[in-house]
Amino acid sequence: MSKRKVLVTGGLGFIGSHTVVALQNVGFDVVIIDNLSNSSIDVLAGITRITGIEPEFEKLDLRDKNAVADFFKKYTEITDVIHFAASKAVGESVQNPLLYYENNLSTLVYLLQHMAQKDKSNFIFSSSCTVYGQADEMPISENAPVKPAESPYGNTKQIGEEIIRDTCKVKDGLKAISLRYFNPIGAHPSVEIGELPIGTPQNLVPFITQTAIGKREKLSVFGNDYPTDDGTAVRDYIHVLDLAEAHVSALQRLIEGKEDKNYEVFNLGTGKGNSVLEVIKTFESSTGQDLPYEIVGRREGDVISAYADTKKANEVLHWKADRSLDEGLKSAWEWEKKVNK
Ligand code: WQD
Repeated sequence: MSKRKVLVTGGLGFIGSHTVVALQNVGFDVVIIDNLSNSSIDVLAGITRITGIEPEFEKLDLRDKNAVADFFKKYTEITDVIHFAASKAVGESVQNPLLYYENNLSTLVYLLQHMAQKDKSNFIFSSSCTVYGQADEMPISENAPVKPAESPYGNTKQIGEEIIRDTCKVKDGLKAISLRYFNPIGAHPSVEIGELPIGTPQNLVPFITQTAIGKREKLSVFGNDYPTDDGTAVRDYIHVLDLAEAHVSALQRLIEGKEDKNYEVFNLGTGKGNSVLEVIKTFESSTGQDLPYEIVGRREGDVISAYADTKKANEVLHWKADRSLDEGLKSAWEWEKKVNK
């Protein structure tokens, strides 16, 4: 029997590539769409070396409405989509909002226009805990209010969720899940795929590993005057393999289609918060590397604390993040050493 084929947009990216591996590991066929604007074609070979199965690949910019239409004419059998492709740098989105609204939203609309025409289709959306802004209570549950976005990037995630929700309301055949990621870190233990930040890393862990390998002089810790135990901001750092496996669980839930509701939201985190200084100390103890850092001022738009209430994903998706911060940091370090060989 032929395998079920899943479209993964942005499948050569950090979370996308790890999700492709997780999908192949449980027997799905995968077609990747990627425009290579923030990824490398080498990732395709990395995925293939891990699973022994080369995913189909279409270099395509989802902003090209006709190219999207041609894709679905070619792949008529596809009814399952996991949509990662988007721009995701918070700071860049403030400087270039129209790039973010076009790239993150028009592409979503074009995909949904095709998925919504099918008798039955399943759509998983890559969202973010950023939609909560600074939540009033920790841990953050899916019922926490979505707050006015602090950046165009965060706004595209909020609007994206609303576009999907509104479409599901009138298209019974379309079932969708938005997955709100906390802070993805780490790399595949094979060291064949990992995070490939282009230019200066915006995120903490790649900046840490690039500092440890000597590419950066020191880490700037953005503020130690927050109302937290050690004054530095707290986040929920989830191993990218746990995150990838959650996408498989979410897709399997939609395929089984037991539920009457056709739109759901899940927070994906470990449920544990760690401060920036705790991450630094854990990195040093788990890798034996000293990490030079300097405390500087707060970064605009940062929240004090964000970590997930994971009950809903644990109970409904039968999924739990079980890899430790230590494992995430060690795997990120192994990957950094590999890419700098
Ligand atoms: C984590 C902590 C920083 C860099 C963002 C997006 C979110 C998702 C993940 C895309 C914060 C501190 C960081 C540095 C530092 N992105 N830090 N020095 O901001 O929690 O979340 O990335 O999907 O949507 O909002 O992640 O890794 O940038 O920062 O002190 O050089 O590390 O202040 O407290 P963030 P981050």
